[in-house]
Amino acid sequence: MKIAILPGDGIGTEIVAEAVRVLNVLDLPFESETALVGGAAYEAHGHPLPESTLALAKAADAILFGAVGDWKYDSLERALRPEQAILGLRKHLGLFANLRPALCYEQLTHASSLKPELVAGLDILIIRELTGDIYFGQPRGRRTAVDGHFPGAEEAFDTMRYSRPEIERIAHVAFQAARKRSKRVTSVDKANVLETFQFWKDVVTEVHQQYPDVALDHMYVDNAAMQLVKAPKKFDVLVTGNMFGDILSDEAAMLTGSIGMLPSASLDKNNKGLYEPSHGSAPDIAGQGVANPLATILSVAMMLRFSLDQAESADRIERAVQAVLTAGLRTADIWSEGTVRVSTREMGDAVVAALTGNTIVKSLTTRI
Ligand code: IPM
Ligand code: MG
Repeated sequence: MKIAILPGDGIGTEIVAEAVRVLNVLDLPFESETALVGGAAYEAHGHPLPESTLALAKAADAILFGAVGDWKYDSLERALRPEQAILGLRKHLGLFANLRPALCYEQLTHASSLKPELVAGLDILIIRELTGDIYFGQPRGRRTAVDGHFPGAEEAFDTMRYSRPEIERIAHVAFQAARKRSKRVTSVDKANVLETFQFWKDVVTEVHQQYPDVALDHMYVDNAAMQLVKAPKKFDVLVTGNMFGDILSDEAAMLTGSIGMLPSASLDKNNKGLYEPSHGSAPDIAGQGVANPLATILSVAMMLRFSLDQAESADRIERAVQAVLTAGLRTADIWSEGTVRVSTREMGDAVVAALTGNTIVKSLTTRI
C-alpha cells in the first residue's frame, strides 16, 4: 500500500508534517512518497500539478493533501494558479464524493462563535458533489455580450450543469451514509430559480425510492445557510452540489469552533480517496508554527478508515485528538481563557504522545 503525500503551500507543509508523524508512529505497513503541488510545484516545475505529481497520485492507494494557494499567484493565468492542482486532482482521479463531517467536540463547545447550546453535540455530515457543477461546466470564459442588459459590453460567463448519472451517484453516497447514521438526508438546492437544481431535486427524489428506510427532505440553499446558524443540530446528512457545498461546508466549520478542526475525504467510485483538511493554505500565518494540525491529523484517520481498511487505527487517532483536547491543549484558533496555547509542533507532539501511551507533555499540562 502506498500513500502519496502532497503538502502544498502555506501552512500545508507544517500541518502535513505533523500528520505524517502521527501516521508513522502507528507503524502500519505503508510506504509513502512526497511530491510538490500547487504554488510550490509551479515554482519548481512551472505547473501547479506536474505530470509526475499526478502520476504519483494516480498510482497511490490514498493521498494525503495539505493545502494550496497564495495571493502572490493571483495574477497568473488561471491554468497556472495553485488551486488548479486540487481541482485537477479531483477531476483526473474522479473524486466526486466529498465528505466533510462537522463535529463539535465537547471540549470546544465554547470555541464556536455560536451559543454553546446551539452547537453542543453537533454531528453533521456534508456530502458535496466535487467534480461537476459550475466549477467544471463548459463553456466558460470572457467575450463580448451579444444580448443581455448591455449588448456589446465585455462579459464573463460560467456554465452550471449536472448530468443524471452525476446526481444519481452522489445521491447514493448520501443515502448510504445516512443508513449508518440517523437515516435522514437533506438535499440542498435552488430549484426555485435554477433549472440545474430542479433537475437535481427530481433525480435525488427518484433515487430516494430505493431507500425507503431513509427520510429525505429538500431545502433551498439560502434557507440552509440560515438554518445552519439557527438550528444546526436539526441536520444530519446534507447533500448538495459543488458550489453550494463549498460555501456551506465553510459555514458548518465555524459551528465546530474552528475550520482548523475539519477533516475531509474526497472519494472515487472505489473508495480510493484524497484526504485533506477543509481549510486552505492560510498564507497570512504560514511559517509561524501556529496553524492547527488537527484537521489534517483527523484526515489521516478518515484515510485509514475509508481507503486503507484500518478502522482501529483511525479510532486510535480520534481518541488521541480527544485526549489532547481534554488535556486543555489548544492552537491559537481554538484557544480560550483557561486553556494552554500550543504551537503546531507541540500539538503534533501531544497527539503522538497520546498515541504512544505517554502522558501528554507534562510541562504543557502544568501550564493550564
Ligand atoms: C475547498 C476549497 C477549494 C474549492 C479551492 C481551493 C479550489 O475552497 O476545498 O473547499 O473551492 O473547492
Ligand atoms: Mg472551500
